[in-house]
Amino acid sequence: MNYMNVDYSTKIPNNVNLSEDRQVLKALEGWHPGYMDWWSDMGPEGFQQSLVYLRTAYSVDPRGWAKFDYVKMPEYRWGILLAPQEENRVVPFGESYGEPAWQEVPGEHRAMLRRLIVIQGDTEPASVEQQRHLGKTAPSLYDMRNLFQVNVEEGRHLWAMVYLLQKYFGRDGREEADELLRRRSGDADAPRMLGAFNEATPDWLSFFMFTYFTDRDGKMQLHSLAQSGFDPLSRTCRFMLTEEAHHMFVGETGISRVVQRTCEAMRDAGITDPTDIAKVRALGVIDLPTIQKKLNLHYSLSLDLFGSEVSTNAANAFNAGIKGRYRETQIDDDHRLQNSTYPVLKLVNGEIKRVDEPALTALNMRLRDDYTQDCVKGMLRWNKIISLAGYQFKLTLPNVAFHRAIGEFKDIHATPDGVLIDDATWTKRKGEWLPSSADGDFIASLMKPVTVSGEYAPWISPPKVGIDNKPGDFEYVKIET
Ligand SMILES: [Fe+2]
Ligand SMILES: [Fe+2]
Repeated sequence: MNYMNVDYSTKIPNNVNLSEDRQVLKALEGWHPGYMDWWSDMGPEGFQQSLVYLRTAYSVDPRGWAKFDYVKMPEYRWGILLAPQEENRVVPFGESYGEPAWQEVPGEHRAMLRRLIVIQGDTEPASVEQQRHLGKTAPSLYDMRNLFQVNVEEGRHLWAMVYLLQKYFGRDGREEADELLRRRSGDADAPRMLGAFNEATPDWLSFFMFTYFTDRDGKMQLHSLAQSGFDPLSRTCRFMLTEEAHHMFVGETGISRVVQRTCEAMRDAGITDPTDIAKVRALGVIDLPTIQKKLNLHYSLSLDLFGSEVSTNAANAFNAGIKGRYRETQIDDDHRLQNSTYPVLKLVNGEIKRVDEPALTALNMRLRDDYTQDCVKGMLRWNKIISLAGYQFKLTLPNVAFHRAIGEFKDIHATPDGVLIDDATWTKRKGEWLPSSADGDFIASLMKPVTVSGEYAPWISPPKVGIDNKPGDFEYVKIET
């Protein structure tokens, strides 16, 4: 079988030779109806009978892996796709550095590996649940299509993790696969595993922030799992990253388009002060200070996903050869980290300071630093739009001590500039830094659906280019009536 091309003759498309792997095929076919029930209960609300112009992976060849066509979402072919096996791949870090990569789960690392796969798997359906109401207020058919593309691919990422669980973890794996369909984002009794995935995504600005900041956490996690000595996990994550790039594109360009529209509207109205919120809002666009507040919220929630700055779990996963660093193979060091240190931001005598910690236990901090650097790139583009429009306003990332629920700064309060403040000041001032319910109400008031091909809601600019190079008036979703 050619692993590059995907076998679509079976019920579950795949490039892992499922038709000759009866036991796993049976387990997956057993799981399938529950997945479809989950999709109809918790997937996008409405539009399930609409034809959506979606890409489906038909190959894992990076030069051409997707085909675009009109598909009804429930008929999307969720498949199991692994990137090609690299010949003679070795474990690229940790205590087993340089040994041949594992094709089976090493017994001693079984529990840790299963837990990491379950945590990753849990985030995938969670975001679909969080975004399920957004179709109804899409600012255009183009945006609606992008939302649904992200949603079906997060569904596929769930399949990717479930395949690993069912193939390599026997009965425990099957139980975990069922649990992934049982938990629900924001549910009081059975919530999703990580905080940011239980928050609401109430409007499209939140959706763009989520795909920019939270999907980017996903990117970093997938990158470090793609380094794994457990080869099937590595190959799975490598292909997921191909899809993930589009999700972050949706976020980055979405925010760009919101910023663009706001700047144009301000300029046309002769507004010189972008912080004159009432005046800007009267134009029916989202003011830059509110965009900054949304950014503060989503960035800080996403930082929490990296866990504690100093973590023995992270050290153990690295030593075990299970979870590496971002771009591990490109780093020039011993890949064991037994004797090196890494500077960690900590709270020392009431001050935020950098303290050298053993590099092994500081791996979460390092990944988070890599993440922050990655976040900055898009921000430069947004700020360029603002400065080109002639405004003195800069969107910035808040300090890592701001609004944290996990790690070194979870018990203190800080301003976005990193100045420590007491509880009373925080309570009094947090509305200046995080979206208030009035801000939410204002944004909600703009969320009126636009379903005419080529038209856009007045608070967002049209995209520069279409998906799959389609023209501006292309009908990305054929809404059934
Ligand atoms: Fe994903
Ligand atoms: Fe994603």
